[in-house]
Amino acid sequence: MSVATHSPVAPLFSFAFLLNPEPTLAWLRENDPLHALAGTDLIVLTRYEDCAAVFIEPAFTAAGGQARRVEASGAPVSMLNTDGPQHHSLRRPGAALLGPPALRRVLPGLAAAAGAVVAPLHSGSDLTRDVSEPYATRVLTTVLGIPPDQVASFDRHARAVAVALDPMPRPASARAGQDAVAALHAFADELMDAALAGSPLAQLAASGLDRPDALGIITLATVGGWSPLAELTTVAVHRVLGDPELRARIVREKGFAARWCEDAIRWHTPIPFVSRRADRDVALPSGIVPAGTQVLVHIGSADRDPSGFDAPGEIRADRDHPRDHLAFGAGPHYCLGAGLVRAALPVLLTTLLSAHPQIALRAKPLVWQASAFPRRPISTVLDLA
Ligand code: HEM
Repeated sequence: MSVATHSPVAPLFSFAFLLNPEPTLAWLRENDPLHALAGTDLIVLTRYEDCAAVFIEPAFTAAGGQARRVEASGAPVSMLNTDGPQHHSLRRPGAALLGPPALRRVLPGLAAAAGAVVAPLHSGSDLTRDVSEPYATRVLTTVLGIPPDQVASFDRHARAVAVALDPMPRPASARAGQDAVAALHAFADELMDAALAGSPLAQLAASGLDRPDALGIITLATVGGWSPLAELTTVAVHRVLGDPELRARIVREKGFAARWCEDAIRWHTPIPFVSRRADRDVALPSGIVPAGTQVLVHIGSADRDPSGFDAPGEIRADRDHPRDHLAFGAGPHYCLGAGLVRAALPVLLTTLLSAHPQIALRAKPLVWQASAFPRRPISTVLDLA
C-alpha cells in the first residue's frame, strides 16, 4: 500500500474535490490506488477492478464497514449493515416488495406519476423542486403502495430523512436523522396497520418479519432511494435538455432512452462510495488490504475508470456491457431499487419531452454543489415557451 504525500491534485474531500472530484480520482487511480486517507485509518479504493473485487469477496463485510456509522447515527440493524444469513432474512421480504414482480405491477403507475409531475410545469418551474423531487416521491409511493391521501405526508418524511444518508454525519445531523427516521417509522407503522389486504405494505406486514425490521426496509428504501433518484433525475434531465440531438432520439427511437439512462446512471453514480471492513488479509488486484482495514470503495471513481469503460466521461447509449457499472453496487448488497430506477428514469424523460416539446433550461452548464454524498447538482429554472 502506498501513501501519497505530494499529489499535484486537490486532496480527497477538500472543497475543490467536492466541486470537481475527477482530477483527484484520476490521479489516485493512476498513482495511489490503495490510498491511505490522511488523518484516518481508511483506505480509499479508486480502480474499477479493485472496487468490483471487494463487492464479491466475503472477507469484506458490510457489518464491519457500517459499524462506525451505526455508532455515530444510532442506525438500527438493517440489510445494509448485516451479512450472511441475517442479511438474507432481511433482504428476502425487501426483494418481494421491490423486485421484478413488484416492478411489473407498478409500471403503469410510473407513467401516471410522470404525467402528474410534468402536467403543471410552467415557465419558471424549478427542475429539482418541481420535477425531480416530486417524481422521486411519486415513484416511491407508487412502489410502496402508499395511499394518495398520504403522498404529501410521505414527501415531508422523505425530505426529512434524506439527512440520514450521510455516512459520516456531524452530531447535529445525526440527531436530526434519528428524529426523522423515528417519525417516518411512526408514520409507516400506522400505514401498515391500515393497509388494505394484498397491498405492498400489507404483504410486508405479513412477511414474517417483526415490525421494526419491516419498518427498517421502508426506511432504507426512503433514505437510500429518494434523494439519489432525485439527484439523478436532475442530472439526466439537464443533460438531455442541453442536447438537441439527444432529445430528438429519446422521442423518436424506442428503447433509446433506457439505454442512454443506463450510462447516465454510471456517469453520475449518485452514491459515490460505500464502506466495507476487511476481516482478514485480502489480495486485491492492486495490492494487499490488511485484516481490520476500513475500506472506502469509491464506486464514483470506478465508474469513470478508463480501464473499465471506453471514454468514461461520455454518456453513451451503445456500450457493449451497459450494466457492468457499480452505481448500484454489486454482489449480495446489490441495490434492490435498481430495477425501479431503470424503469422510472426513461419514463420521466419521454413523458417530459412529449408533454413539453419546447422545454428548455435557463442555466446551461451543469454545476455541482460541494456535497460528497450524494453528488448533487445545482438545479435550474425551466422555460416552456
Ligand atoms: C439512483 C438511485 C439509487 C442509487 C444510485 C442506489 C445505489 C445503491 C447502492 C450503491 C447500494 C449498495 C450499498 C452497499 O453495497 O453498501 C444500494 C443498496 C440498496 N438500495 Fe439503492 N440506490 C438507488 C435507489 C434506490 C431505490 C429507489 C430504492 C428503493 C425503492 C433502493 C433500495 C436499496 C436497498 C434496500 C439497498 C440495500 C440492499 C442490501 O443491502 O441488500 N435504492 N443502493
